Amino acid sequence: MRVAISTGGGDAPGLNAVIRAAVLAAVNRDWEVLGIKRGFAGLLGEDDVVPLTREAVRGIGHLGGTILRTTNRGNPLRYERAGVTVDRSDELIANARDHGIDAVISIGGDGSLLIAQKLFEKGLHVIGVPKTIDNDVSGTVTTFGFDTAVNTAIEAVDRLHTTAESHDRVIVMEVMGRHCGYIALHTGLAASADVILIPEIPYDIDCVCDKVRERDRAGRLFSIVVVAEGVRDGGAEHIARLIQEKTGKETRWLVLGHLQRGGMPTGYDRLLATRFGGAAVRAVADGKWGHMVALQSPRIVTIPIAQVLAQPKRVDPHSDTVLTAREMGISFGD
Ligand code: F6P
Repeated sequence: MRVAISTGGGDAPGLNAVIRAAVLAAVNRDWEVLGIKRGFAGLLGEDDVVPLTREAVRGIGHLGGTILRTTNRGNPLRYERAGVTVDRSDELIANARDHGIDAVISIGGDGSLLIAQKLFEKGLHVIGVPKTIDNDVSGTVTTFGFDTAVNTAIEAVDRLHTTAESHDRVIVMEVMGRHCGYIALHTGLAASADVILIPEIPYDIDCVCDKVRERDRAGRLFSIVVVAEGVRDGGAEHIARLIQEKTGKETRWLVLGHLQRGGMPTGYDRLLATRFGGAAVRAVADGKWGHMVALQSPRIVTIPIAQVLAQPKRVDPHSDTVLTAREMGISFGD
């Protein structure tokens, strides 16, 4: 058996732990493993395909990023070449065959899973592994990378608290998450933000300002607002300006950005990623083509990628997490 591994889309802490676990589990079955560099580009003549041996994955489990590199361009089905979009999926499958690849473990978010599904429909033996800091892949309780991103954002809010309080300021911090509010919700609740704004709950800026004024009246002269990048009507800068205009409070803002994607995975993410890597190799052994490994606590299961793609995961505004935040007095601006 010759298995190839690909990491596609934005990186997430834990990718190297998946690679390491999958390589060791495969090599211990006497399988051969190849790494496809930069998403699927390595199979499209852009980069290359490298052997992944026991030695190649030594000491990488705790490292952020991906030793295979990644890209959020280079979709083989809609490949940009000299300003023209071409479908190179047949070429990719032929190249995989030429390399003697029997199965591909594709580690990625919804974009990469969609590519994996299309390649599976064209006959490639694919197993998906869900990765994203955004936690927006359905069918799995969580994706690896999310916990690390949330921990990074929590540390940032902890630091903002002391300076906001010292200066009686409002500080608005924007976190990632694309169209989804999980990072903002979990960060805001765990780090005691006063306002959390997420795409799943439309907000009214006047309600946000009411919360800031209410805190002022109670002698809490500072406020922390955590905003998900996907909220409608502007990000942190826009919201901070409006708060300052409407309340007269001195306001500052920041975008946490790619800090959330970098660095060492948390223990939780390292373990989840490692379990996913092992489960992906078992899925290859079982011939579960077109399936994705997923956490359905406490078990790791496999589910059809098509089922995962049918419904993107979003924050449930009626979840206990939102409810608890509301009951603790955190405002969602609604
Ligand atoms: O999907 C992960 C993510 O970090 C999103 O939260 C964010 O919107 C996007 O990727 C940023 O992507 P890029 O790598 O292009 O900056």
